Amino acid sequence: MPSYTVTVATGSQWFAGTDDYVYLSLEGAAGCSERHLLDKPFYNDFERGAVDSYDVTVEEDLGEIQLIKIEKRKYWYQDDWYLKYITVKTPLGDYLEFPCYRWITDEKEIVLRDGRAKLPRDDKTQILKQHRRKELEDRQKMYRWKEWHPGFPLSIDAHSHSELPRDIQFDNEKGIDFILNYSKAMENLYINRFMHMFQSSWNDFADFEKIFVRISNTISEYVMQHWKEDFMFGYQFLNGCNPVLIRRCTEIPKKFPVTTAMVECSLERNLTLEEEVKQGNVFIVDYELLDGVDANKTDPCTIQYLAAPICLLYKNLENKILPIAIQLGQKPGPENPIFLPSDAMYDWLLAKIWVRSSDFHIHQTVTHLLRTHLVSEVFSIAMFRQLPAVHPLFKLLVPHMRFTIAINTKAREQLICECGLFDKANATGGGGHVQMVQKAMKDLTYSSLCFPEEIKAKGMDSQEDIPYYYYRDDGIKVWEAVKSFAEDVIRIYYENDEVVCEDVELQAFVKDIYVYGMRGVKASGFPKMIKTREKLAEYLTVVMFTTSAQHAAVNFGQYDWCSWIPNAPPTMRCPPPTEKGTVTIEQIVESLPDRGRSCWHLGAVWALSQFQDNELFLGMYPDEHFVEKPVKEAMAKFRKNLDEIVSTITERNKNKKLPYYYLSPDRIPNSVAV
Ligand SMILES: [Fe+2]
Repeated sequence: MPSYTVTVATGSQWFAGTDDYVYLSLEGAAGCSERHLLDKPFYNDFERGAVDSYDVTVEEDLGEIQLIKIEKRKYWYQDDWYLKYITVKTPLGDYLEFPCYRWITDEKEIVLRDGRAKLPRDDKTQILKQHRRKELEDRQKMYRWKEWHPGFPLSIDAHSHSELPRDIQFDNEKGIDFILNYSKAMENLYINRFMHMFQSSWNDFADFEKIFVRISNTISEYVMQHWKEDFMFGYQFLNGCNPVLIRRCTEIPKKFPVTTAMVECSLERNLTLEEEVKQGNVFIVDYELLDGVDANKTDPCTIQYLAAPICLLYKNLENKILPIAIQLGQKPGPENPIFLPSDAMYDWLLAKIWVRSSDFHIHQTVTHLLRTHLVSEVFSIAMFRQLPAVHPLFKLLVPHMRFTIAINTKAREQLICECGLFDKANATGGGGHVQMVQKAMKDLTYSSLCFPEEIKAKGMDSQEDIPYYYYRDDGIKVWEAVKSFAEDVIRIYYENDEVVCEDVELQAFVKDIYVYGMRGVKASGFPKMIKTREKLAEYLTVVMFTTSAQHAAVNFGQYDWCSWIPNAPPTMRCPPPTEKGTVTIEQIVESLPDRGRSCWHLGAVWALSQFQDNELFLGMYPDEHFVEKPVKEAMAKFRKNLDEIVSTITERNKNKKLPYYYLSPDRIPNSVAV
């Protein structure tokens, strides 16, 4: 009688093993096997990290094995099991792999297909077509869209992390408890003695050092030492943790009436301001989005303030980008003076602090939350709803969706919800952050997520003209590597553009993102369908780049750039100055966050900048969803390209006081998970 050898691999995460009854049956083209009991309770099979083998003897040859059915039945209590994969050795000696990489949580049976990726058109038999349809029906019941706030991209329909499907939960819920993590961070930083000291101001800038953790030769220490310098202020627009706002100024806006006379002493080329603008030496950052946003009113004892500044920057003869004029509100007028480097020292310093604080708000809520976290969640939900596990694009994308829905759900549960942790120290807490996301949706266009296009649209693409924009240089390299990988995978499964057009599952995925993520807004430029292989490669690059590189660029520098509080104040406790010549150091310190808020802010930026244990960095795909050799070769090529980028960046950073490493692929996690 023919005999099959079945090998079963259990996951190695905590509680992955099971003591329940496990049954298996094989379904072949020529017939089905009986239901075999693989493991009885206390046989010590299916332990965490184990690989167990069994012989399954059948009456007659089953033909080509198409499906494996696995059933888990409760022994004593429901014992969840993480099944990595099953391999089958056929009587002819062939090996078949059946990837699973899922939790089996209840008494349902799960049905696995072999690991070769298939488009919908490849499945000819009813049994395979049905399996595909059933999987999507089940997933669509589990992964439902929900509007968290009007105008937001839709998110997952779940109130808490524990309500999520087991497959997308964190392995260890404690690890991502924000309240616990922030408190732990404050304890580790030895600053918890300050955490309840709200309304208590620091004495002077040096006083902030009491909570600052000085780590020698790090960026944060460098920031503390140089934060007052105009160079440091300008540098952050290019290579800080929010390097996305600066654009070339093509015309001085009417609402910001800077004249040549005002900035003459900053200009170095004997040209008028207009001529400098024409030559491309002037840059602008406009925080218009903050205009009209309500400041945090959740603490009646502390009035908090927001501004909506505009900042003009100039590229000097040494190619340094320096601030030359700052207006703190959007409407020009006598009560809204234009601050200049030639003003009294504290006037200029406070104006810059207001810009830094505004930058912090836009960074957290727009650059980070909306444009990486919420967008990645949209990609993730659409993937689970529309792409079955056998689809090549599911296999390609699933590593880039790891823990994203989970971290966002947890954030909605504890951080950015009403009365959440975010309200504690941020001037945009208490609802301001919600207004900001709603306003920022109009700029969330498809082309703005295409990295090279976005850089070009801002007039920031010339390396010759703007030589020290490492975010751009490294970002382009990583974008190209990701795109080339996407192209390689696409070539394997899509012979031509027609195959792309015919892939109904791909088209449903793209449509879901447009309809539920972008709310069907035509002006978003998000495609409703994809017609060519080239467009598909670009689309997949947007997805993989946003979930990995873009998030890393704006997430992991938070401690570096925001831990020195005067460089990134999360709130301001006095209104912006309305006249020149009155600012004192006392007024600046009174404006900056109090001891309690400083402490919470520091705990937050510390916790948010940490990699996870066993982090999976870009291109690391330990779960073998793909079994085909050409894809494995494409992955190897991708990793080789990424390694070369790592070497180039390491070489470039050598001996630099301010190295830029956020887009070095060995520091880019595959997915948004923190
Ligand atoms: Fe993040």
